[in-house]
Amino acid sequence: MSELDMQKVEQLYGELFGKVEGAMTCALGQLGDKLGLYRALADSGPSTSKEIASATELDERWVREWLRQQAAAGILQYEHDRFSLTPEAEEVFAREESPLFGAGILDSVMGLMQTVDRLEESFRSGVGEPYDSFGKQTAVGIERTFRPFFRSRLIPEVLPVLDGVVAKLEAGAKVADVGCGAAVALVEMSKAFPNSEFHGYDNSRRALARAKVNHTEAGTRNLKIHDTTHERLSEDETFDLITTFDCIHDMTHPAETISAIRRSLKPDGTWFVADIRGYPTFAENLASQPFAGMLYGFSVICCMRSALAVPGGAGLGTLGFPESEARKMAEEAGFTRFRKHDFQNPLNDYYEIRP
Ligand SMILES: C[S@@+](CC[C@H](N)C(=O)[O-])C[C@H]1O[C@@H](n2cnc3c(N)ncnc32)[C@H](O)[C@@H]1O
Repeated sequence: MSELDMQKVEQLYGELFGKVEGAMTCALGQLGDKLGLYRALADSGPSTSKEIASATELDERWVREWLRQQAAAGILQYEHDRFSLTPEAEEVFAREESPLFGAGILDSVMGLMQTVDRLEESFRSGVGEPYDSFGKQTAVGIERTFRPFFRSRLIPEVLPVLDGVVAKLEAGAKVADVGCGAAVALVEMSKAFPNSEFHGYDNSRRALARAKVNHTEAGTRNLKIHDTTHERLSEDETFDLITTFDCIHDMTHPAETISAIRRSLKPDGTWFVADIRGYPTFAENLASQPFAGMLYGFSVICCMRSALAVPGGAGLGTLGFPESEARKMAEEAGFTRFRKHDFQNPLNDYYEIRP
C-alpha cells in the first residue's frame, strides 16, 4: 500500500459522516413532519422537550432525542434548554400552506429510498421502472414538493409573463397539462379561469388518483383528467396552451411527446415548459449546478429510472433536459420561437416555446 495522506483520509471521513448525517436528517425530518413535531415547534415558540411532547402527545424521551438530532444538524435552534425554529425555518419546515414550504421533498426521498434494492436489477438489465413503482409516499412527496409553487406563483406571477396567454385564458382557451401528476397546477388554473377548459394527462395511476381527489375537492367543472395509457393528447391543433412541469426528462419517449404537443397546439399556441436547470455537459453541471449531487441522486433513483422504464427509453434523467436540449428537441419537432424565463426558482428553468 502506497503511503497515504492521513489528513486526506480524515477529510474523507468528515465527508462521509456529513452524508450520513444528511440521510439521518432526511429520515427523522420526514418522521417529524408526519408526527407534527415541526408544527408543534412553530406553534409553541421556544419550548422544552416536555412541552413539545405534551403538545404532540408523544413520549418525551423520544421527542428529546429527536429535538437534539435536529438541533445538532442545524435545523433547530437551542438555547436555555429550549428548542425553536427560526421564522425562516418555520416557513420551510412547518407551514404547509407557505409559498416557501419545502419539507414535502422529504416524503419523496424517503419513499424512493424504500425502492433502492430493486435498482440492482436495473443496473444489470439496463431497464428501469415507471413512476407507479416508486410507491404512494413518493407520489405524495412529489405533490407536496411542487404544490407551493403552483399555489402561490403560477397564476399571479408566471402566466402573466407569457405572451398573450392570460388574455386567452380569460376569454376561454383550451389547455392541457402533460405529465400533470396530482393536477395541482390544473386545479389552480381551472379555478382562476372559469371560461377555459383544462385537460390533465399522466400515465401513473397513483398520480391520477391524487389528481382525481384534488379535482373533486376543488369542484371545478372545467377540468378533465386523462390516463395516457388509454387516451392520447388529441393532435388536431386545438390547444391554446400546453404545459409540461418537470416531466419531459422523466419520459421514455420525450421526442414523441414533444412532437405530439406541437401537433396539438394551435398555430399561435404556447408550450410552457418547466424543467430542471441543467447544463449541456457533466463538467458544466459539476461547475455550475450547486445541487448536482442531489439531482444525479434523484436521476438514478427516480427520473432516469422512469425514462428507461422500457427497453430503448431515452433515459434523459433529471439533468438531461437543459436549455440546449430543449431548444434542439423543440426545433426538431417544428417549433420556431423559444424564450427562456427566470422565475427565481432554485431548481427550475422555464421556456416559452411556440410554433
Ligand atoms: C416529477 S413528476 C411532475 C408532476 C407534475 N407535473 C408536477 O409538477 O407536480 C413527473 C410526472 O410525469 C409523469 N410521466 C412520466 N412519463 C409520462 C408520460 N409518458 N406521459 C405522461 N406522464 C408521464 C409521471 O407519472 C409523473 O406524474
